[in-house]
Amino acid sequence: MSQSTRVVSPNVEIMPISATTDAQGHLIIGGCDTVELAKQFGTPLYVIDEATVRASASAFQAGLSAYKKSRPLYAGKAFLCTAMCHLIRKLGFGLDVVSEGELFTAVKAGFPADLIYLHGNNKSAKELQAALNYPGVKIVADSTDEIKMLAEIAQQSKVKASVLIRVTPGVEPDTHEHIKTGQHNSKFGIPLDRLNNIVELILKYPDALQLVGLHAHIGSQSHDLGPFLELIDIMADRFAAIKKEYGVELTQLDVGGGLGIAYTKEDRPTPIYEWAHSVATKVAEAFSKRNMELPELFVEPGRSMIGTAGITLYRAGHTKDIDGAASCLSVDGGMADNPRPITYQAKYTTCVANRMTAPTPEKPVSLVGRYCESGDIIVKEAYLAAQRDDVIAVFGTGAYNYSMASNYNRTTRPACVLVLDGKAEVIIERETNEDLVRQDRILDRLL
Ligand code: LLP
Repeated sequence: MSQSTRVVSPNVEIMPISATTDAQGHLIIGGCDTVELAKQFGTPLYVIDEATVRASASAFQAGLSAYKKSRPLYAGKAFLCTAMCHLIRKLGFGLDVVSEGELFTAVKAGFPADLIYLHGNNKSAKELQAALNYPGVKIVADSTDEIKMLAEIAQQSKVKASVLIRVTPGVEPDTHEHIKTGQHNSKFGIPLDRLNNIVELILKYPDALQLVGLHAHIGSQSHDLGPFLELIDIMADRFAAIKKEYGVELTQLDVGGGLGIAYTKEDRPTPIYEWAHSVATKVAEAFSKRNMELPELFVEPGRSMIGTAGITLYRAGHTKDIDGAASCLSVDGGMADNPRPITYQAKYTTCVANRMTAPTPEKPVSLVGRYCESGDIIVKEAYLAAQRDDVIAVFGTGAYNYSMASNYNRTTRPACVLVLDGKAEVIIERETNEDLVRQDRILDRLL
């Protein structure tokens, strides 16, 4: 048996790897009855299957294992809270953060600073200062302006910042326009033809900045391996050119994240193990071919680490027949807890968690959210034999759901529970109505 058939790659499965159905026809995740979870914790509810997160992490680690100096960094923007920081630290991952808030969350969870990478195309002076306050945090620089600002802050603080340059490699994965980032007109990164200027700028501040490597992230929800391999050749060329031109041997190569997951049965992403193994093998080949020392290799998976681990539970509400269209089944959540369908026309798979063994109906319903917006449709055509008060599960909501959730229509953000071996524990509390008015201020003159 080859290693790839032994290693489970949860990004190719729609459901969490622990999903089963019990004798009552209830959906079970992490040994917990989802119908009971909905009752106990309320709905909408995010449920994260720890076994799936662990299996995804193991698949990345196994794929990278032949490359000695490698480490996956979890992209916190997919889903972050202090419990998640603890879990990914236990799994041997570093962390990619993209705001002061994500950095604060990591620090609060005691995440080691030297395993944190700060990204962002518009880091503020406050954010850069916050990063420099934790010696070891690496800064992934995105512009000339930022580098000048960082040098000034580092000089004032009398510290030396470790810097990677984010480049725009001109590689485009086949994905939604809004989540492509590697193309020439991207707002992210430094175009390849301006890279030398940036290197020269950094080298002007030897007391404040230390250039350690290059970074690129070409986009997200990419199923194919090809663009990642193309990227590695481009990056290896740049490492060689910088060594030749400036005598600087860069030590860190970060090829970003972007590996896709299966939201529906039509999705066929490269399995995690195969992706990581191919990336590692390609980096070794590309650098050896150019007679270069192998750099430390970093990858930054977000969606593929947490996406299929998460499901959302809703409670079915009213049904409405609509002339000339599928009838609507409304649930008690929607675009505020999952803005991906309305933002990227993302497709999801769904089921009735308390009727898993019921026959599939012949006619679809439109599974719609509760928000005041016509586009708040979770799944356009869902074959659900659902009645009011049933529990509806939507799969693949672990990534970019909670992290992009809003309080639209002054609704409260759902709780999040982590399930493992029959135990469900809250890792993020449900917001309350009091939370909604907490920041409001009453003006005397309006009373
Ligand atoms: N590294 C960097 C620098 C990134 O910008 C991103 C994602 C990642 C890593 C992780 O990418 P992943 O492995 O998750 O594909 N809200 C969108 C996705 C935006 C991704 C932004 N950057 C969505 O819901 O599809």
